Amino acid sequence: MFNIKHRLEELLSAAIDQATGLSGSNANVIYATRPEFGDYQANGVMAVAKRAKTNPRELAVKVLAAIPENELIARAEIAGPGFINLFLVDDYLTRWGEHYGQSEQSLIEPVAAPQRIVVDYSSPNLAKEMHVGHLRGTIIGDCLVRVLEASGHEVIRQNHVGDWGTQFGMLIAHMESLQTENDKLSLQLSDLETFYREAKQRFDNEPGFAETARNYVVKLQGGDADCLKAWRVFIDTSLGHCESVYELLGVTLSRADLKPESFYNPQLAHIIQTLDDKGLLSVSEGAKCVFMDEFTGKEGAPLPTIVQKSDGGYLYATTDLAAIEYRAGTLKADRVLYVVDARQSLHFQQVFAIARKAGMAPESCSLEHIAYGMMMGEDGKPFKTRSGDNVKLVDLLEESVRRAHTIVSEKNPTLDDETRTQIAGVVGISAVKYSDLSKNRTSDYVFDWSTMLSFEGNTAPYMLYAFARIKSILRKDEVGELASDAALQITAEEERKLILKNLQFQETILVVAQEGLPNYLSAYLYELAGLFMRFYEACPVLKAEPAVRASRLKIVNLTAKTLDKGLTLLGLNTLEKM
Ligand code: ARG
Repeated sequence: MFNIKHRLEELLSAAIDQATGLSGSNANVIYATRPEFGDYQANGVMAVAKRAKTNPRELAVKVLAAIPENELIARAEIAGPGFINLFLVDDYLTRWGEHYGQSEQSLIEPVAAPQRIVVDYSSPNLAKEMHVGHLRGTIIGDCLVRVLEASGHEVIRQNHVGDWGTQFGMLIAHMESLQTENDKLSLQLSDLETFYREAKQRFDNEPGFAETARNYVVKLQGGDADCLKAWRVFIDTSLGHCESVYELLGVTLSRADLKPESFYNPQLAHIIQTLDDKGLLSVSEGAKCVFMDEFTGKEGAPLPTIVQKSDGGYLYATTDLAAIEYRAGTLKADRVLYVVDARQSLHFQQVFAIARKAGMAPESCSLEHIAYGMMMGEDGKPFKTRSGDNVKLVDLLEESVRRAHTIVSEKNPTLDDETRTQIAGVVGISAVKYSDLSKNRTSDYVFDWSTMLSFEGNTAPYMLYAFARIKSILRKDEVGELASDAALQITAEEERKLILKNLQFQETILVVAQEGLPNYLSAYLYELAGLFMRFYEACPVLKAEPAVRASRLKIVNLTAKTLDKGLTLLGLNTLEKM
């Protein structure tokens, strides 16, 4: 597979082994931290020298001499206490640049050992409509599945929606009493937030309603046909709401990816049995729990994971254990990623640990919580409406498109209505997605309209604009020089830097796939766009003499291809004109 960093690491690690007589050394190759340090640098010599108790600079001299014959490294130099700076062969860059610049050539080569990867993401609770709390998981998860698939893995999406539990008794009870006026029901369900609020209101205040609701829960769990019918109507309506959000967001989840909590109901008794068989179960205050030494609460008190309540009801954790068993056992996943709010981190640590102890997931199956922080308002507090309610996701997205429409109209007043609406749609949705994906997911994130819709900085409008601009240059290739067999050549440093950056796309994708960090991809694309702008200022394309013009057009084309692919993997739609 073509991966410069990986190849350099192989070469330099082999050289260290050779120079020391050790095996399995790690050259620790990274991008050069400054331009004068070359293209990459190997930092591993110092650590090896320390272990071998030799002088790092002397070892570095030996390592240089031991670098195997190769076509990649033009020059290697020792710097500081034992860093090795690496300069790449220009021809190598132009050859690969040309190869990847061809339209039919895929920019990403599949990994040598593809895995089967289950990705649990979005997974809203269906009792209410999707709100801003589901935004991050949905966007980040969708970017990760795209990246993993593009890397050659087999991805199984799992939308672990919450469609079961006591709330549904309350909702069905409310539905049933509205059922008599049929039209009223469908109207009411068109706004699930209000519907939920009304049901809750009755549950809390109306005499007898809570009792009725509880009866419905029992009936539902007992498989009562009428009750199940009403429940299905509700679930279907709620899923319809989710699907319109997915469509608006351009998210790849479909009904086929649904594995709702209720899917696991038939397995729950057996999960408890397995825990019991393995001797993991204890009873505390009537509830069945698992205690593990590694989980303690206040003042070291043992912290239980409850798996069955005293009334027999199962819990969120029980369902997740069944889901692990299904994913590891039936789906035979090599890796399971849970793209879920960081506040559920303890929950996942617990269920992962229980699943391992109970043999529900073999060690070979990696279970990973891809945690993300909360979405905050500009005031630094959790993002809410003025009245303190959760903001519905549809409303937020529609507002973004409206705001984008105003901005696009100001920037470009001559656009016809249709184009304007189309551009605003892409910009508005991309802005919300990109601003999230460009931040490290692990921290809380401040949702700020003015930054995300700005045309400056690492934002969707800037990236989309950069892409459209590059496309407009390519449209000026009237004589078809792109298709000519003119060679790609390096005549200026800006060209070299841009080609190299393009060739680092693959390495970036691998890191995103491994670490589950979309912000690496966003940062990469932003740097690529920046290098392009610098190239474009320093190197005239269309006005250059023919051979150089053809070469530069090819560099432009390569960059367009990379940007297009990268933005698509982030889940953005691009625009040819803006
Ligand atoms: N429905 C849950 C929530 O809204 C998220 C589910 C995440 N996935 C899981 N397997 N627990 O908080």
